Amino acid sequence: MLALRGISKEYPSTAGPLRVLNALSLDLPPGSTASIMGPSGCGKSTLLSILGGLDAPSSGEYTLNGANPYTLSLDALARFRNSSIGFVFQDHCLLPQLTVLENVLAPTLASAATPGADERARHLLHQVGLRARLDHFPAQLSGGEKQRAAIARALILDPPLVLCDEPTGNLDHASATSVADLLLSLAASGERIVITVTHSAELAGRFHRHFTLHDGALQTD
Ligand SMILES: Nc1ncnc2c1ncn2[C@@H]1O[C@H](COP(=O)(O)OP(=O)(O)OP(=O)(O)O)[C@@H](O)[C@H]1O
Ligand SMILES: [Mg+2]
Repeated sequence: MLALRGISKEYPSTAGPLRVLNALSLDLPPGSTASIMGPSGCGKSTLLSILGGLDAPSSGEYTLNGANPYTLSLDALARFRNSSIGFVFQDHCLLPQLTVLENVLAPTLASAATPGADERARHLLHQVGLRARLDHFPAQLSGGEKQRAAIARALILDPPLVLCDEPTGNLDHASATSVADLLLSLAASGERIVITVTHSAELAGRFHRHFTLHDGALQTD
């Protein structure tokens, strides 16, 4: 269960505090998928940062499966990000000096040996259609292939929450459709929650629940 209660976020600015999120609340049960739309600058990435344990809210409470990451020590917060959250960004953020297989395995290096990680990485890369690209470097992949590798990396530690920020923003229509198919079939399986921010009404429409971020709060379409 993901729960946000009265989340506000302010950034300091020379003109005074800039309030981006304003008493925002949200409940999502395990197994749900949600899309968030809204104009540039309305706070979508800010909200994903809070959900991902990257930036604390100014006020309000966030819990994922009963735990509030912002009450944790810095070490425990880093472990939360590593094990509980899978990120897929608009820019795939693959490490250029690592192969596809090594990129997918990278999250497993933060903790002690993860049994079966290599086999799971190969299986995920097979599922995203990259079985013949394991030894390629990111520069040797198409945009859609990079994004599919990023999805495999996001899923390697089987996180309960996957956060996507414009995952299809840089892709042509056919690649965007295949990335969306993967997110919905692979990421959104079992008990996992998948949230995507997007400017694409087509992508948003494929998720169970549709929200628009307006005046710092989420509205249901
Ligand atoms: N670290 C920061 N310090 C100060 N202001 C910030 C910071 N990060 C974001 N902002 C401001 O907060 C607002 C929301 O930014 P955010 O990146 O969340 O928007 P967004 O909805 O993701 O936009 P886009 O669709 O363009 O990605 C913007 O006006 C931005 O200038
Ligand atoms: Mg953004």
